[in-house]
This record gives sequence, structure tokens and C-alpha cells, in this order.
Amino acid sequence: MEKLIVHGGTPLKGRINVSGSKNSSLPILAATLLTKESCTIRNVPDLSDTNYMVRILGELGADVERASGVVITKAEKIKSTAPYDLVRKMRASICVLGPLTGRLKRCVVSLPGGCVIGDRPVDLHLKGMEALGAIVKVDGGDIDVNARKGLKGCEINLMGKHGSTVLGTDNVMMAATLAKGTTIIQGAAAEPEVEDLANFLIKMGAKIEGAGTHRIVIEGVKELHGAEHKVIPDRIEAGTFLVAGAILGEGITLRRVNPDHLRSVLDAFKHCGIPIETTKDSITVRPNPKARGFDLTTLPYPGFPTDMQAQFCALACAIPDTSTITETIFPQRFMHVAEMKRMGANIDLQGATARIRGGEPLKGAPVMASDLRASAALVLAGLLASGTTEIHRLYHIDRGYEHLDDKLIALGANIERVQE
Ligand code: EPZ
Repeated sequence: MEKLIVHGGTPLKGRINVSGSKNSSLPILAATLLTKESCTIRNVPDLSDTNYMVRILGELGADVERASGVVITKAEKIKSTAPYDLVRKMRASICVLGPLTGRLKRCVVSLPGGCVIGDRPVDLHLKGMEALGAIVKVDGGDIDVNARKGLKGCEINLMGKHGSTVLGTDNVMMAATLAKGTTIIQGAAAEPEVEDLANFLIKMGAKIEGAGTHRIVIEGVKELHGAEHKVIPDRIEAGTFLVAGAILGEGITLRRVNPDHLRSVLDAFKHCGIPIETTKDSITVRPNPKARGFDLTTLPYPGFPTDMQAQFCALACAIPDTSTITETIFPQRFMHVAEMKRMGANIDLQGATARIRGGEPLKGAPVMASDLRASAALVLAGLLASGTTEIHRLYHIDRGYEHLDDKLIALGANIERVQE
């Protein structure tokens, strides 16, 4: 196992390129199962999660080649079963449910486990498959979907008690592309990654309107053909680096990024008095020693993203004011708080709201990575802290950030990756 040793206090400056989006790549790679023809997906980040999805496609019978950021697939003949040992390592594997159901009309996909950010139900995914006419049974940890009589377009509301579901919307949209008739998804997730998936499906011959809004209309077609697609930039990786640049140094610039995908995050920085400049494909951020605290609530897109909540807790530690952040999507998603408190952070957790009194010095300490974004937030806290912070269980970070340490070192950070 590896760990990161972060020597805090070194100012950051310079520019880096943002990688392709993990949360766009995963459903788009799964969508290649919808056709027997070859697909080429570009700008796929080199992460353990995307490598794992490539492995899943292979185990399902697709031919898959990966050359750095380009993945070429050909799913001529595919299996209808995604077993537990394949699905258990990554919850997002659930996004093969829609393509397998759409293409084969029959599949068995193991129920993904929960994870540290909370219970990860799939009831809305199953509600969508049933609405399309499938018989869905959950038995012995497996989801058994039978749509032998074919899939029929429907009108469905996918809103859950925590708002819309990203992968649930993806799964229903993918299955609906090959259903008979028209499907209307109300309460759809509007994330840029959903829109990116829809754009890929449209290139494959799907008829989709409204992706990127909360109402998506899909008119089923007989079959889909191969296509090429370039994945959008990773808005959460970008947001994570913006927090690093806002915490200390002379300012950093991110390139190959789409500022429109980060409006709520950029507004949050500006609200704190942290200067942000954008062009169509770059964002520059500078620290402001007199920055003001913030009161944020995570919401489905276009609201403030839950995937940026932990990173903003680290930012709040750097701002000499009181800030609050309330988590409404995954109310337990505060694994980072206990670890930051080990570094001296003044954070008080009341239910799903963290109250942070920032500006007090943090001191480096050994901390434990837990989920992907909490782990990245601990790196950020380590940059801010005096002394050395050791971050164990690095595999959490490597799941979702392409060369995070190398990119931070390129910005001047003093970080080492060593064997545990
Ligand atoms: C996607 O997960 C992202 N993952 C997550 O990013 C992100 O945090 C999440 O969306 C919310 O934005 C990928 O895209 C691979 P949801 P997803 O279904 O689709 C509840 C990261 O760090 N819900 O939108 O699995 C659920 O419990 C990861 O990159 C149901 O109740 O999340 C949650 O409270 C972490 N029933 C809320 O909806 C369901 O059937 C949103 O979950 C499905 C979800």
C-alpha cells in the first residue's frame, strides 16, 4: 500500500490541465454495451475506477483496448450477468444495468454494496426498469431484470427523497433508447455528466431531448451504432484544485476546463471574496487573506455539488471566519471531519451540518483516507497545515484523481508518494 507525505505551507502557483471526467467516463463506457459496433471514447482519465469499468466490459464479453486516454470497445456478443465479484468493488458498476437491459432485455446484476458516504440504494433504478415494462426481482443480492416481452416507453418521475439520481437517470435513459415508443423522465438529474452521456448516445443514433434539464424525452429506436466521443473535463477535479489554489500561494490557473459546469462552485468562491477569473476553457483563482466565511447547502445540479463538500470544509479551515456547510445528498458524508480535527481543525458537526471556525493554524498529523473526496480534502488540509501530514490508504484517491500528487507537485507543493 502507498501513502502520501504532504509537507504543508509551500505556496502554490502555476497552471495545470484538468483531466477527463470520471463520472462521465463510467456511464459512457457502460453505454458502449448498447451496440455491437466499435466505439472510441477519448479523454478517459487513467484511474482505478475507469480501469475497473474497462475490466467489467471485458468480463461481460466486449473486446476492449485502452491506449492512455483512449478506450476502443466492440461489444459484439455480451453476457447478461454481472456477478458480485465484478460489481462489488465499485458502486458505479450499477450503470451496466441500463445498457444490459436495453440491449439484451434480460440481465442479472449484483446489488452494489453501500460505501462510507452512506447507504447507496438503487430503488429508483429498479422503479425505472419496471416502468419500462421489465419484471424486476431482487433475490440473494442479485437484481434480476426480465424484459423478454420488450421494453415499452413510459413516463416516470425519478425524484427520490434526496433529490434526483444521477446514475438512475443514466440507466433509465440508456435502456429507454432501445424501448418501443417514447419515454419521459421527470425529476431527471441535470448534471453535465448526464448531458455528456446523452450526447454520446445521440451520436450512436439515439433520439434524446432535454438532457441537462430535469425533463428528458427519449424516443426509442431499433438499434444503436458505434460512435466516437470525447469526455468532458472533470468539474470536481477542477473544483478540488481551485480550493488548493484558494488556500495558499500566488494563484493557479486550470486549463481544459468548462467554467459553465462549475457555476455554483465559482459563485461560492466569489461570495467568500476569493478572486476568480475565467475564459471559455480556463479558470484562475487567487487566495484572499481577508476572505469571508460561507453558508452552503449541497443540492443536485445546478446546486452546490456534494462531491465538493469535503473540499470546502478544508477551504473553510483557511478562512478566518465561521462557515457552515449542510449536506443534503449524503447526510453522513463527513468522514473527513474527524480526520481534520486530528489536525486541529475547529469543526462542530450538528446532524448534517458542519460548522467550521477557520483561520486557526492546522498541524500536520497522520490521517486516514476514507472516501474519494474526503481523501482529497485531507490532502488540501495537509497543504494548509504546518509540518507533515501522512495520508494512508491512498487507493481511495487513485480511484478518482488522475495523478493528483504529480499535478500538485507541478504547482509547487512538497509531496511524496511512498510505500507504507
Ligand atoms: C453519482 O452517484 C456520482 N457518482 C457521485 O460521485 C455523486 O456524489 C452523486 O452522483 C450525487 O451527485 C458517479 O457519477 C459515478 P445518486 P450516484 O443516485 O448516481 C439517493 C464521486 O465522489 N438514491 O445521484 O450513485 C442516494 O442515496 C461520487 O465521484 C436513492 O434514494 O448518486 C443519494 O442520497 C461519490 N435511490 C441521492 O439519491 C436510488 O435508487 C443521490 O444519489 C438512487 C439514489
